[in-house]
Amino acid sequence: MSNDPHKAGEEKVRPHVYDGIQEYDNRLPNWWLWTFYGAIIFSVVYWFSWYNADIMTSDEKAIDRKMAKVEELRLASIGEISNDALWEMSGNPGFVESGQAVYQDKCVACHGPNLEGGIGQNLVDAEWKWGNQPLSVYSVVANGSPDKTAGMQAWIGELGPQKVSQVVAYVLSHHTRDEMAEATTLNTPVGL
Ligand code: HEC
Repeated sequence: MSNDPHKAGEEKVRPHVYDGIQEYDNRLPNWWLWTFYGAIIFSVVYWFSWYNADIMTSDEKAIDRKMAKVEELRLASIGEISNDALWEMSGNPGFVESGQAVYQDKCVACHGPNLEGGIGQNLVDAEWKWGNQPLSVYSVVANGSPDKTAGMQAWIGELGPQKVSQVVAYVLSHHTRDEMAEATTLNTPVGL
C-alpha cells in the first residue's frame, strides 16, 4: 500500500472552502463502511421477517391475538346462551379450537372426523333433526335427543356448560347463518 494517497502526511485537501474550513479527501474507515452496509442488510432482513415471513410477530398481529383472547374470555363469561352468542363463539378462534378438542375426545366416534356422521347424524349437511338454530343444536347436545330410542345421551353432566358451548361453536363454525336459516328441520325444534 505504498502508493496509497491517503497515508498519513499525504492527505489530499479538497479544493472547496467553506467559512475558511477545508476538508481532507479521506477514505471512510472500514469499520464505518461495514457498520453502514451491515445496517442496510439488517434492515432488509428485519423488514422481511417482520412483515413477510411469519418469523416475528408484528404488533398488529400480537394485538389481534390479544383481542381474540379478550373476546374469548368475554364470550366464556356470558351467562345466558343465545343464538347470537353461539354464532359469536363460532367465530372466535380460541373457542372453536377448544371445541374441536372436545369434539375429538367425545363426539368423533359417532359423528366422524369431518362431522359427516356415522352412528350419529351428519352435522355438516342442511338437514337438522331437532332444529336448525344454534340453540336447538346446543339443547340436543346439552340435554340429549328427545328420541329416547334412537337418541343421543345428554352431555351437560359430563362436559359442563362451557365445554358444551365450545363444542357447539365448533359444529357451527362449519356453517353460516344464511345456510343454517335455510336448512330443513325434521321435528319440532328443541331448546327455543
Ligand atoms: C354414541 C354415539 C354418539 C356420540 C358419542 C355423540 N353423538 Fe351426537 N348423536 C348421536 C345420535 C345417534 C344422534 C341422533 C339422535 C336422534 O336421532 O334423535 C345424534 C345427534 C346429534 C345432534 C343433533 C343433530 C340434528 O340433526 O339435529 C347433534 C348436534 C349432536 N349429536 C352433537 C354431538 C356432539 C357435539 C357430541 C360430542 C359432545 C356428540 N353428538 C356425541 C350419537 C352420538
